[in-house]
Amino acid sequence: MKTAILTGAAGGIGAAIATLLASNGATVIALDRSFTGVSEQATDAGHILSTSFDVSSEADWSRISRMVAERFGHIDALVNNAAIFNPVPFLEESVAGFQAVTGVNQIGTFLGMRAAAALMPAQGGAIVNVCSTGGLRGFSGAFAYSTSKWAIRGMTKVAARELANRNIRVNAVHPGLVDTPMLGENTAQNLTKMTASVPLNRLARPDEIARLVAFLASPGSEYITGSEFTIDGGQTI
Ligand SMILES: NC(=O)c1ccc[n+]([C@@H]2O[C@H](COP(=O)([O-])OP(=O)(O)OC[C@H]3O[C@@H](n4cnc5c(N)ncnc54)[C@H](O)[C@@H]3O)[C@@H](O)[C@H]2O)c1
Repeated sequence: MKTAILTGAAGGIGAAIATLLASNGATVIALDRSFTGVSEQATDAGHILSTSFDVSSEADWSRISRMVAERFGHIDALVNNAAIFNPVPFLEESVAGFQAVTGVNQIGTFLGMRAAAALMPAQGGAIVNVCSTGGLRGFSGAFAYSTSKWAIRGMTKVAARELANRNIRVNAVHPGLVDTPMLGENTAQNLTKMTASVPLNRLARPDEIARLVAFLASPGSEYITGSEFTIDGGQTI
């Protein structure tokens, strides 16, 4: 894989994916709403171009698509990784709160896949949607987040079928508990509580998720599409 777009690249898992893809020789177009302006960083093998970006904005996807087409011609992979986690129980959720989460997690993933399909060459490419074990079951206390991750599973399957004739593969990854800012503060008490439900008895490190994502984004996974991969230390067994 030579050129990849990655969203949520400033976050815990996103930064690990950007580093790994670049160290595997890729040029990574790293997008995040918390980046300011455009910056470029060369690694020994690859290159990371970071730019500010809102995944829920159609205009931002058009802007980045034009930039990528002009500068790189095409992409080989997209990793839809950006998300927000605003845990609100079902009966307390507002329409505005639900729409905010849906806009980033679900619409952002839809817009990303659509832009990527237009930027992928005739020989195809790979899309990896970073989902969650919160999309494998009812994640009580996080109604909008859990719903958005279930929706991403559906979008992954439909897109995988519709894009297969162009050799564009679409897969989903379901991390369990990963040690990133999204989890909030990891006090000793919190950690004991969180890891009690994990058979491997620890949080995942972002680089462990990155390795699975990089495999699915690479030609090494060429016969895998429409599939879902849980990486949760056994939490959902
Ligand atoms: N950390 C976990 O325990 C965990 C578990 C399961 C799934 N995940 C998933 O992994 C992915 C990465 O999460 P993380 O743990 O690295 O979280 P994180 O909060 O560290 O990173 C998320 C990144 O997304 C960016 N972002 C948010 N809204 C955006 C927008 N509108 N446009 C562009 N960028 C935006 C943020 O700025 C942030 O850098 C997410 O899809 C998350 O749902 C995380």
